[in-house]
Amino acid sequence: MRTTTRFVGVLTLILLLSATMLYAGGSKEQEKASNELEIFSWWTAGGEAEGLQALIDLYSEKYPDVEVINATVAGGAGTNAKAVLATRMQGGNPPDSFQVHAGRELIDTWVVSDFMEPVTFVLKDNGWMDAFPKEVIDIISYEGEVYSIPVNVHRSNVMWYNIEIFEKNGLKPPVTVGDFFEVAEALKAAGVTPLALGDTNVWPATHLMASALVAGLGPEGYKGLWTGETRWDSKETRTALARFADMLEYVNDDHSALTNIDAAGYVADGKAAMTVMGDWVHGYYLSRGLKPNVDYGYAPTPGTNGVFIMLSDSFGLPKGVPHPENVKRWLEVLASVEGQDAFNPIKGSIPARTDTDRSLYDVYLLSAMKDFESNAIVPSLAHGSAASESWLTAINDIVNVFVTERDVDATVRQFQRAADEELK
Ligand code: GAL
Repeated sequence: MRTTTRFVGVLTLILLLSATMLYAGGSKEQEKASNELEIFSWWTAGGEAEGLQALIDLYSEKYPDVEVINATVAGGAGTNAKAVLATRMQGGNPPDSFQVHAGRELIDTWVVSDFMEPVTFVLKDNGWMDAFPKEVIDIISYEGEVYSIPVNVHRSNVMWYNIEIFEKNGLKPPVTVGDFFEVAEALKAAGVTPLALGDTNVWPATHLMASALVAGLGPEGYKGLWTGETRWDSKETRTALARFADMLEYVNDDHSALTNIDAAGYVADGKAAMTVMGDWVHGYYLSRGLKPNVDYGYAPTPGTNGVFIMLSDSFGLPKGVPHPENVKRWLEVLASVEGQDAFNPIKGSIPARTDTDRSLYDVYLLSAMKDFESNAIVPSLAHGSAASESWLTAINDIVNVFVTERDVDATVRQFQRAADEELK
């Protein structure tokens, strides 16, 4: 009996000891886990990956004890990342902070549905509220609170072109839509692919269409598409779409197998003369060691001079994240002059703040800053500013068919139905 009692006693001691050791080990693990910061984005391409790394490096310099987890899901414009994010958010497993387009993507998808914490304090406590233009504050705000911190402003309507091809063929980069067709004909006759498109993920075609809509409708007419003031089945929209269809006559045959970055590569490598894409292409070209105005040229997409189709990448604080304190510091780094200046010259975007160090920005970015200050600003369609995600998905589906069938009449009817559905 006594032996059994002693045995039970020793066993209990062993169990207690191992539980203590396990607990100690566990809490160390927890401590470690509690000092992480998971950043979720789709920035994997040249330029954008380096820009993100510059932000992470700056954060790590300031908070060396925090382990930053750079969680990326490749695919331009968030093609794949957004679906992964939705699953995580709905499953109660939000990343600490995620890339989200300022505007309807942020507000309609995540804020109204109550997934986000307000982050107004990041700007207010640091006295930075006035450092951002009102247009930017407006699209990150809902019912008086700010819900994300914008790291940049990108321009969507840029035509990137191969200077050598233009010079060799005695051509000038097109300014108007009419110029575009003249130049495109001449290039085609010379055996050069006029326009590079890489729409394997569909959205680059929608991206090009947005420029064609601005060219055809003007900034006010284009803005009206998102409020119902401009009808999709109007004569003017129909004409703009017909011009878009005409432009598609001049794209590379393999467009549906390429990404937007592949298409930009075609221009840099002399396989095509022009491409229409946002200025992350500038970041991509810089990452390849190319120089603006030497190795490539840029101009507003034909017919959109004086208009700046804008989008902005931002990060927020989802509800219930594992490391909210680390996120608050992350957001502060993003909002600071230092953060904006570490990121944007590499990313190919202009800072969202207006008080940054301009000496750090190159000739292209200075021209984009000037245009952002003086142009008519309109929201980007393909990058979450103009339309809700469900409306954009419907538009992408319609565009996908349009690119091959080019049936303008059927398409305007489908677009109008999608708008009616959204705006009812
Ligand atoms: C946009 C995003 C840019 C860039 C681009 C290509 O939606 O705002 O920052 O990453 O996609 O991936």
